[in-house]
Amino acid sequence: MKLTVNGVEHDVDATPEMPLLWVLRDLVGLTGTKYGCGLSQCGACTVHLDGSPVKSCVLPVSAVAGRAVTTIEGLSSDGSHPVQKAWAELDVVQCGYCQSGQIMAAAALLQQVGQPTDQQIDEAMGGNLCRCGTYPRIRAAIHKAAGQNSDGGQA
Ligand code: FES
Repeated sequence: MKLTVNGVEHDVDATPEMPLLWVLRDLVGLTGTKYGCGLSQCGACTVHLDGSPVKSCVLPVSAVAGRAVTTIEGLSSDGSHPVQKAWAELDVVQCGYCQSGQIMAAAALLQQVGQPTDQQIDEAMGGNLCRCGTYPRIRAAIHKAAGQNSDGGQA
């Protein structure tokens, strides 16, 4: 089965129903995408499919044939994506486990809404859980990546 990840085509030996998460981690070797719940409940496994966030733990790999998958490794090669830079500058991460999924969800939001409100951020990020409770810093980092102050005003 062929799939395109971060702009590179891969030919993988997977059954059609194998979740994309395990194809990415075990067959393609991209381990930045994390397994949390396996039930579409936590968002740790979030990747982009044609630019939109999806939970890769419940997405059969057959569903991505001919479509573009982007993982945290493909967001930028050197951490220079505006969301990644804001994450580092505001020291968002605590344990870090959920953060690649958080960053992918945030990057997708900013592609859709250039200057999101707190409410839009909370709605877009509601499917991404953080057991360390870094939500205030995540919200502030999204505003920063959008060029806003932490309260959503213009920087
Ligand atoms: Fe996919 Fe939790 S591991 S949503």
